[in-house]
Amino acid sequence: MSRRILIAGNWKMNMRAASAASLAKGIVDAVGKNSPVEVVLCPPAAYLHTVSEATAGTSVEVGGQNLYPADDGAFTGELNAAMLTDVGCRYVILGHSERRQLMGETDACVSKKLHAAMAGNLVPIVCVGETLEQREAEETEAVIEKQIRGSLEGLDEVRAAGIVIAYEPVWAIGTGKTASKEQAEAVHAFIRGLLADMFSPGVAEQIRIQYGGSVKPGNAAELLAEPNIDGALVGGASLKVEYFAGIIAAAP
Ligand code: G3H
Repeated sequence: MSRRILIAGNWKMNMRAASAASLAKGIVDAVGKNSPVEVVLCPPAAYLHTVSEATAGTSVEVGGQNLYPADDGAFTGELNAAMLTDVGCRYVILGHSERRQLMGETDACVSKKLHAAMAGNLVPIVCVGETLEQREAEETEAVIEKQIRGSLEGLDEVRAAGIVIAYEPVWAIGTGKTASKEQAEAVHAFIRGLLADMFSPGVAEQIRIQYGGSVKPGNAAELLAEPNIDGALVGGASLKVEYFAGIIAAAP
């Protein structure tokens, strides 16, 4: 089955209001109408409104970088799925390795967020990936399996078809070291097999699996040409129109 390529820009903790508006407008212009590629911008929470306004009425979608899995209440500093949808989000990144490492997010925590996202009609982009030490110890598949089984705990087959997985080897994030297309495809194929085992082969065929980790215009085409790589979650290169547009243009 053919899965629509999904290119998402994770702006992380970068930008100011003026630069966020201008970057979003630049990407909207670069993407144009009727793009075969789905494009999502995930700015910091402070600029979600700015980016939603800049992309309103276009094919470019907006996503959050995190959410808190609770209804409105006494949770200082947090924002929930209803707030993200209210400000125009369709997607939300969950379990990014930076949050797992810096904020101590566990698979159980990601699972709670996943269910909150889906209950709020957001499409979760669930991030998984191994460290360099784990890869060198040949633990990659075991690590990925544990993260996916834990992060998707309690998800049923119907809802599973609508999620997105982002495979982001930690050693490739922001380092300039991209996984080779063979390394990335091998893990993506492993993930699809795992999803077939957890849900069904038909559901696994529908789930989009993005690659993330130093994706650039120069390496995007070969990665995106692999059969199990359905898009990219882009950090650094999503902060410049020409780089991000180059990645989008590289999609098959
Ligand atoms: O969410 C994006 C990833 O962490 C990749 O970041 O493209 O800067 O390596 P990067």
